[in-house]
Amino acid sequence: MKNILVTGGAGFIGSAFVRHMVQTYPHYTIVVFDKLTYAGNLDNLLPVHDEPNYRFVRGDIADAQAVRRALEEYQIDAIVNFAAESHVDRSIMNSHAFLETDVIGVYVLLEQARQLGIKRFHQVSTDEVYGWIAEGAFKETDPLQPNNPYSAAKAGGEMMVRAYHVTHGMHTTVTRGSNTYGPYQYPEKMMSLFITEAIDDRPLPVYGDGKQVRDWLYVDDHARAIDLVLHVGAPGEVYNVGGENEHHNIDVTRRILRLLGKPESLIRFVADRPGHDRRYALDCTKIKALGWQRNDDFESLLAQTVAWYRQNEWWWRKIKTGEYLEYYKQQYAQRLAEAKSQ
Ligand code: NAD
Ligand code: DAU
Repeated sequence: MKNILVTGGAGFIGSAFVRHMVQTYPHYTIVVFDKLTYAGNLDNLLPVHDEPNYRFVRGDIADAQAVRRALEEYQIDAIVNFAAESHVDRSIMNSHAFLETDVIGVYVLLEQARQLGIKRFHQVSTDEVYGWIAEGAFKETDPLQPNNPYSAAKAGGEMMVRAYHVTHGMHTTVTRGSNTYGPYQYPEKMMSLFITEAIDDRPLPVYGDGKQVRDWLYVDDHARAIDLVLHVGAPGEVYNVGGENEHHNIDVTRRILRLLGKPESLIRFVADRPGHDRRYALDCTKIKALGWQRNDDFESLLAQTVAWYRQNEWWWRKIKTGEYLEYYKQQYAQRLAEAKSQ
């Protein structure tokens, strides 16, 4: 591998992967291909902007001609696809863009890759494709039972990846990651929303009873897992990537408040997310057998993450304007007006 196209590389996890790859493999050329939707942000790529092995192309993965141009121009050997509409609450409001990018976009990438004989295709997927589990942990062989439009679209994209491997013999791999946190996360996800809202002494809208469980994975661990699977993953295989770090949402919320020295009176219990998955958990035996290990010090990684948002207000304050405020109002205004304090 020499030239890697990283689609969705201007987003949260994609940009962490790009920063990691540009620095780890100076002999590779890392080409970011990104539509720059509301979630795409070139500020996430400032740390690599001047590196000689980094390139940026603006484009839509559902646009076959644009994809083909980039694959040919940069003589791409491998595609790593992060590009997606990624937020569950937005998929509940309107699913259209999720189907266009997370299903059709994946198909367009696969088909262009097939036609040009691209050597590797890695799809970044999610633990949400399994649905939720009351006890134990999902294995890669478990059935897919997605419960919301986002996870259904991701499962659809993944099924096309499987089909291109089985039907066309493409060298594909898939990772199913758990809830990822860290710097540069668009402040709509629980972790980055709550940290930035709490800094401003604003209410934190906890859905339902706050007893849902998420398995928190640090973003750099997620990026390293994808690097590993891209290089040594077996063709056609799927690998779970979990933090093995389960917490109730309300406990994560309280930890964030403690780290910021803010009162628990900021917590509001608001109307639940429809179809809200209760618990995610992954069995990560398979990727560990490849040599991957996650960092298990949640306490200090969460503290570092909170400190990053505190120190980098320049990054998130300019996001919290315009379209963001419209979305915030639609998602939270009524919920907060009807909220219960803790
Ligand atoms: P994000 O929303 O922060 O970034 C998505 C990126 O994709 C943005 O840069 C956006 O501009 C780009 N994009 C969207 N549509 C595009 C299109 N049609 N063409 C080209 N670029 C497009 O997402 P994220 O949280 O970094 O997630 C990245 C990937 O990882 C997604 O595929 C997501 O499903 C998956 N994932 C996320 C998590 C998580 O906790 N955030 C966990 C597991 C898996
Ligand atoms: O599990 C992997 C998935 O994690 C990824 O595939 C998705 O792209 C990513 O968005 C994330 O999905 P979640 O829905 O789990 O993440 P989110 O940050 O939206 O929510 C985390 C939990 O917090 C979930 O139980 C819902 C709850 N929540 C979320 C928000 C935004 C709240 O209680 N209040 C909120 O305002």
